[in-house]
Amino acid sequence: MLPTIENCIAQTITTAETNDEKMKRMEWFDRAKLGIFIHWGIYAVDGVSESWSFHNNYLPYDRYMDQSKRFTASKYDPKKWVNLIRESGAQYTVITTKHHDGMALWNTKTSDLNVVKQTPARRDLIAPFVNEVRRQGLKLGLYYSLLDWSNDNYPNKTNTETRYRIKDDPARWEKFVKFNFAQLSELNKNFKPDLYWFDGDWEQSAESWHSKEIADLLRSTNPNVIINSRIQGYGDYATPEQGIPIVRPKDRYWELCMTMNDSWGFQHTDTNFKSPFILLRTFVDCLSMNGNMLMDIGPREDGTIPDEEVAILKEFGRWTSKHKEAIYDTRAGIPNEHFQGYTTLNKEGNILYLYLPYRPNGPVEVKGLMNKVNRIWVVGNGAILNYKIYNKNYWSEVPGNLYIDVPERVLDPSITVIAILLDGPVKLYRGSGQVITCN
Ligand code: GLC
Repeated sequence: MLPTIENCIAQTITTAETNDEKMKRMEWFDRAKLGIFIHWGIYAVDGVSESWSFHNNYLPYDRYMDQSKRFTASKYDPKKWVNLIRESGAQYTVITTKHHDGMALWNTKTSDLNVVKQTPARRDLIAPFVNEVRRQGLKLGLYYSLLDWSNDNYPNKTNTETRYRIKDDPARWEKFVKFNFAQLSELNKNFKPDLYWFDGDWEQSAESWHSKEIADLLRSTNPNVIINSRIQGYGDYATPEQGIPIVRPKDRYWELCMTMNDSWGFQHTDTNFKSPFILLRTFVDCLSMNGNMLMDIGPREDGTIPDEEVAILKEFGRWTSKHKEAIYDTRAGIPNEHFQGYTTLNKEGNILYLYLPYRPNGPVEVKGLMNKVNRIWVVGNGAILNYKIYNKNYWSEVPGNLYIDVPERVLDPSITVIAILLDGPVKLYRGSGQVITCN
């Protein structure tokens, strides 16, 4: 049905949600801060780029699909996966149930293109993961590609091969829409996720996908379900990919998705891993701008997780368990003019956290703080730090500069965190100084 003006008004009314309701719905997501993304599929067999390798014609489609015959999941241990994810400090996880190649990882009745029917794994790989995620108390996210380059009723397959155009055969397109709805109903019914992570929306419009109806369908069984932005305008939060935002994103809720090396799925040739330090730094960068980080792992076809990825998750675990108070209950910090580095604040706004991804050569400086400082300590270490205030003149409202001594022995091997307890919610001087009026 084409939207008439009346329809549009009706839609706005039914989707109208107060800010309070949304805040409530987003509460766990806002506090979660760290999530682990999992890209697992037949592409891990030969270690080629997920779906894109055939779409961009690096590899013929049949060769790509041939990997199914060798996708075994023979050492798949969902308990081990979830243990590691939980150990990292992540509060949620998002797994690929179906990538753009159309191969479903759950036992779908909607088509034969699934790992139960097409691969030696011969079982539902999502169900045991979901059970384990629930057992260990993490939040569950399901990645689902709206587009499906393998489906005969989907308009295009590769970037050079088009099956048909929607406007030439709308009935055929509606068949595809029905298929998507059937798959999503299954996921909803079987796994009841807390979050849907859509992808591939860029190929069609909201109207073609029936985005609103998808959101309604998912919310009909779980009104609190969270939906990412990749559904053409009907999502709850933004998903910048790979590039760390430079300025704080305008969206109230956002999540940076990021790979540990350069690939989402497992690739034998990709050894370009970022160090745990660099990834932790990125995580803190997100925290300081009110965002989450969704960090990706790409298990091998047999279900084992590469050592480099295990090591990163473990180092995250060490750092997050030590610095809990400066992670989950924080929000964006103060502008960079006040402190040359990353900062956050606690919910009440009276504790300012400074993150030091370096060894200071002298005292650490904070400018323009109007509050009185009650106490300064090292998070996860407890040591009280000495500080001094210089340049405070009695005749001026410009506050002095705060200098904090950070001795070598309190430094974290990766990122040291300092907490400053203020006499009330943070108050900043944002002016450009004053000239003398008396002396
Ligand atoms: C992209 C890619 C995809 C990847 C995803 C993760 O949009 O299409 O391969 O799964 O981003 O964010």
